[in-house]
Amino acid sequence: MGKVNKSDLVRAAARARQRAVAPYSKFKVGAALLTRSGEVITGANVESASYGLTCCAERVALFKALTAGKRGFVAVAVVARVPGGAMPCGACRQLLAEYAPRAKVWVADSRAVGSIREFSVRELLPGAFLEVPKDSVGEGLSQG
Ligand code: THU
Repeated sequence: MGKVNKSDLVRAAARARQRAVAPYSKFKVGAALLTRSGEVITGANVESASYGLTCCAERVALFKALTAGKRGFVAVAVVARVPGGAMPCGACRQLLAEYAPRAKVWVADSRAVGSIREFSVRELLPGAFLEVPKDSVGEGLSQG
């Protein structure tokens, strides 16, 4: 397997975007995760008639990857038809902070995949909530 670079990963996200299921917003997003060992796992957004059930491309890719046993994500590319590329939403930033904390985030406009902006997960979600405090067990029914 050849080494996957930034441009390869963005192009993988652009290809994945074509399989987005976005009949309501018509806004297609593709994502591609890269593992330390050079594997690429892609995803695209899937929408529901019950709009709130929609799942973003980033989370589809992450859930696919995690449930296939993949770990050690070094980058995630996100591609959409929007100037500068689509920024991951808050929910996706949370999941990335938990499962891809060291990943670079590469975003691009599907019409200009050669122009890639780079962020870190840490800068996108500073001070992330990463662990449920252990001493909360059994406290669920009590007050204070
Ligand atoms: N969406 C993503 O898939 N990723 C993002 O980073 C932003 C938003 C999707 C969710 C929904 O299907 C559509 O874009 C419009 O919000």
